[in-house]
Amino acid sequence: MAQAKMIFPPDFLWGTATAAHQVEGNNTNNDWWVWEQEDGRILHGHKSGLACDWWQNAEADLDRAAEMGNNAHRLSLEWSRIEPEPSVFDSSALDRYRQILQAMHDRGIEPMVTLHHFSNPLWLVEKEDFNSGVAVDYFQRYAAKVADVLGDLVPKWVTINEPMVYVFMRYLKKAFPAPKQTGWAAAMQATRNLLRCHAAAYHAIKEKQPEALVGVAKNMAVFQPRPGGNRLDNWWAGRISWLFNDMWHESLQHGRLRWPLGQGRIKHLADSFDFTGINYYTRFYVKFPPRGGLLDNEWGPDAIVSDGNYGEVYPDGIFQMIKRVLRYDKPIYITENGIPDQADGIRPSFLITHLREIWRAISFCFPVMGYYHWSLVDNFEWERGWTQRFGLIEMDPETQERHLRQSGRLYREICRSGSVTSDMAQRYAPDLMDAIFPGQSPPAVA
Ligand code: BGC
Repeated sequence: MAQAKMIFPPDFLWGTATAAHQVEGNNTNNDWWVWEQEDGRILHGHKSGLACDWWQNAEADLDRAAEMGNNAHRLSLEWSRIEPEPSVFDSSALDRYRQILQAMHDRGIEPMVTLHHFSNPLWLVEKEDFNSGVAVDYFQRYAAKVADVLGDLVPKWVTINEPMVYVFMRYLKKAFPAPKQTGWAAAMQATRNLLRCHAAAYHAIKEKQPEALVGVAKNMAVFQPRPGGNRLDNWWAGRISWLFNDMWHESLQHGRLRWPLGQGRIKHLADSFDFTGINYYTRFYVKFPPRGGLLDNEWGPDAIVSDGNYGEVYPDGIFQMIKRVLRYDKPIYITENGIPDQADGIRPSFLITHLREIWRAISFCFPVMGYYHWSLVDNFEWERGWTQRFGLIEMDPETQERHLRQSGRLYREICRSGSVTSDMAQRYAPDLMDAIFPGQSPPAVA
């Protein structure tokens, strides 16, 4: 029987994503490193340690990414390496990043570079932090410096990774290295300053590199009232969704603060993004009042839930989030999407079902230009330590040994062919055949 194929555009970017602190190892000069040394901060007392040893040898994993047919990779820079003390820039760190970025180009992998992915130089959090406008000046200077030194190798930049997750986890949940001032007022003040940081970095980069694309990687999730929920649940789902999904890009789009940030304009913020980046993982069922903080982790009755109760597998949500950002009329990149699945029992079907939604969006001419799977290799998963494995490549942090998971083999076939086919589904996720490729299963042998 002829294969059915979902074919992606020839110039589609097929990548994976990582973040500096999660893969580099020995990032001793940032707030995460210090936090990890304190009792009770990280599940089972895990530490990032050598992580995936990228500072010494990112090239080995880049070889694996290239072999996997990847033509793109999203990584982040560790600010605390580049500027170990205020105003002191370390040229050897910048040289190492040039090497890594060049190694990507040499392998046909286009870099997308994030400036801030959850970790901060110690000097910043000890003195100023994001509650102070001084952090904005520092961030602008850092952005200008790296654009100047590395910009020729970086066509796409992300200023800040998941600003609302960062604010929530740091100022409200205090599960990320928490500053001296926490709570709602501090969270809102930090959000306003992160918007300022973004605007400042956007223009600092564009000044050096007018042709670069600069945006934000925004975590977006589906928030729905729990089944059988009441009007208050429904109202709360709408509020949370606005706060988490929309408020940030709406502020960027119009250049002014939106509820509940207060009122007023932020200088140079309006239209300060060239693409929308979506990090999509899951859907939440919402009820009011929530038991713990803003959100309870509640999933649907038949939900397929990933390791450690991380989230529900809900592929339709990625399509919904793509539709949600169409209003900005910008190219869209899926800057992260993945699942913690140590045994790799779910990831192959996760890949196929999520990519099908992206293909569906592209078929409607929605401008989705690339997909960066989280992640290339198992890495240090923040407050959950090494308990959650997102890699297409499995890695043992003790021995640094790696091996390609089944899902990695599948992703290799997808990236190399630029398509998802019924034949792949048959081999990697046969349970999906009826739902995704009806009538394409090979006839049963008598
Ligand atoms: C973050 C990553 C993280 C991933 C999986 C995203 O929220 O950007 O750093 O590892 O989700 O939890």
